[in-house]
Amino acid sequence: MIRIRGLRKIYRVGTEAVHALRGVDLDISANEMVAIMGSSGSGKSTMMNILGCLDTPTHGTYELDGRAVSQMGADELAHVRNEKIGFVFQSFELLPRQTALANVELPLVYSRQASLTWRERRERAERSLRRVGLGSRMDHRPNQLSGGQKQRVAIARAILNNPSILMADEPTGNLDSATTAEILSIFRQLHAEGQTILMVTHENDVAAHCQRVVRLRDGRILSDLPIAEDEAGKYVPAGQAA
Ligand SMILES: Nc1ncnc2c1ncn2[C@@H]1O[C@H](COP(=O)(O)OP(=O)(O)OP(=O)(O)O)[C@@H](O)[C@H]1O
Ligand SMILES: [Mg+2]
Repeated sequence: MIRIRGLRKIYRVGTEAVHALRGVDLDISANEMVAIMGSSGSGKSTMMNILGCLDTPTHGTYELDGRAVSQMGADELAHVRNEKIGFVFQSFELLPRQTALANVELPLVYSRQASLTWRERRERAERSLRRVGLGSRMDHRPNQLSGGQKQRVAIARAILNNPSILMADEPTGNLDSATTAEILSIFRQLHAEGQTILMVTHENDVAAHCQRVVRLRDGRILSDLPIAEDEAGKYVPAGQAA
């Protein structure tokens, strides 16, 4: 589903060159749930932004669903960003004056599926909110929701168009441990339903919910290891399974 080769990203700041990615190869298959880890500045967000087609690499290739992203025209790129990739951010990024429902509906407003009627859009947004357990909070605005509920609205918005991949950059970074568990159980549920998920996290406990952990250091892949699932359905680091 995702195939990157020799990915490099050099940021130019004045006369200085910042090497954020120094040659990354990575394959992600359909229905994987992968954690990206690494210390601050190791290149995690840079890689996520390239995978999300929000930024372009300086060198290297990126294929999404068999298509080279660098060959895509503006229209196809916009389509990919809007419909093949779902994004969840640490800071939720909800529109403060809009209800949960209006926030979730937003991608459909900019979608190729402009032919959808007002009622069809609304029904899809409602279905998405129910999938994350927010059926009873549709008309609440962000300031009337808890942190975990806000993140669930953001997840409902990200999965609205059934994206090929759901990408999350530190989705639990602003949440306490109980709320983190709630959000992780939603990611696990979506994964069980077939969703491919890629998430950046600093926390081992969060990464332990994934099947595979990719560690970056200084713009390179340091390790790429599977996490085994034991009989109880609990994920444990490979090698520690009973
Ligand atoms: N827009 C930019 N312009 C210049 N340098 C940048 C830019 N974005 C990131 N960098 C640099 O690239 C390197 C990688 O940054 P990146 O944001 O990818 O790290 P990260 O792993 O996401 O870190 P964190 O855990 O703190 O979020 C850092 O040295 C950073 O200073
Ligand atoms: Mg980052």
